[in-house]
Amino acid sequence: MEKVLITGGAGFIGSHFARRLLDADDVAQVTVLDALTYAGNVENLGEAMLSPKLTFVHGNILDARLVGELAEEHTAIVHFAAESHVDRSFYEAGNFLATNILGTHTLLAAARDHGIRRFVHVSTDEVYGPLPTGQATETDPVRPTVPYAASKAASDLVALSYHQTFGVPVCVTRSSNNYGPRQHPEKIIPLFITRLLKGQSPTLHGRGQHMRNWLHVEDNCQGIDLVLRSGAPGQIYNIGGGTDLTSRELTDRILRLFDADWDCIQYIPDRASNDLRYAMDCSKIASLGYQPVRDLDDGLAETCDWYRRNPDRWAPLLCIRATNPAPAPALIDHPV
Ligand SMILES: NC(=O)c1ccc[n+]([C@@H]2O[C@H](COP(=O)([O-])OP(=O)(O)OC[C@H]3O[C@@H](n4cnc5c(N)ncnc54)[C@H](O)[C@@H]3O)[C@@H](O)[C@H]2O)c1
Repeated sequence: MEKVLITGGAGFIGSHFARRLLDADDVAQVTVLDALTYAGNVENLGEAMLSPKLTFVHGNILDARLVGELAEEHTAIVHFAAESHVDRSFYEAGNFLATNILGTHTLLAAARDHGIRRFVHVSTDEVYGPLPTGQATETDPVRPTVPYAASKAASDLVALSYHQTFGVPVCVTRSSNNYGPRQHPEKIIPLFITRLLKGQSPTLHGRGQHMRNWLHVEDNCQGIDLVLRSGAPGQIYNIGGGTDLTSRELTDRILRLFDADWDCIQYIPDRASNDLRYAMDCSKIASLGYQPVRDLDDGLAETCDWYRRNPDRWAPLLCIRATNPAPAPALIDHPV
């Protein structure tokens, strides 16, 4: 019976994953460790907070003492906690480097010191950088172009080095763009949906030519769960296989859900750096039994419905200025 520590479990993907594990008979205990930055909210865990199998710990992955204590009590770590929004990484890159690289290192060192049996490090297709054609495989080099992706690529490499050097049983997952209920409204799909719900114009970068693979969050959780149970230590697994769309095509699908037309779209200059296309080959995780099952239009309708029914969950987030927790004391005497 596994005792699983989930970092970032009050965020978007981590909260879906925690709910999934709580339903699994072979998981005895789930602990969520989350600093509750602007992106985290215990309400994302909802009724799961009432489960006797769930413990919520409000704390920072940079706090080496806390992380060590938690690692001692668990058999597996699934690591979601991160600064995750590309646009923010343009103006607060330091937070991204601290949380995503040093925070990951703190967890890895604790996993090594306390004999963690499984460590899944959750990462992104953005580490491969833009691909004009073809699909990235797990053996391709990382070529990140923005601070967010660079911090994730660095953390992937540190994680893999801990497998190589210390034998920590690390697997890395790299997924494409997730969507689904309870995502922070700074991300493109909920941003467009909430703007349309408020009667405002969604804003499209450039000419909307950027190509992304859209993966329902539950499909990603299915893949991460498979890797947790049967991934080979030291291996990377791409998780995608949703639907490839340009942001213009994605906008069109969302507009159709609202019976809205293109007149309401506002075009804005493209951001400083915006990779034109990501694409991954996902045959490796398919060999573990992974198959995405969620249809994009159904998933978008479900997502839209959630935001329509829960304005109390996202409206306040649109006016709160982002705050991050103060650096943990562990940053000062970090055992690097
Ligand atoms: N959202 C996507 O489309 C996507 C795609 C690929 C990979 N990923 C990766 O998946 C993971 C989860 O992404 P998400 O979209 O759920 O992110 P999110 O921003 O919704 O959630 C991140 C969570 O981490 C917590 N957190 C941040 N800093 C912390 C710290 N120092 N200590 C403890 N907790 C901290 C936040 O409070 C929040 O609950 C990230 O590692 C991200 O890089 C996301």
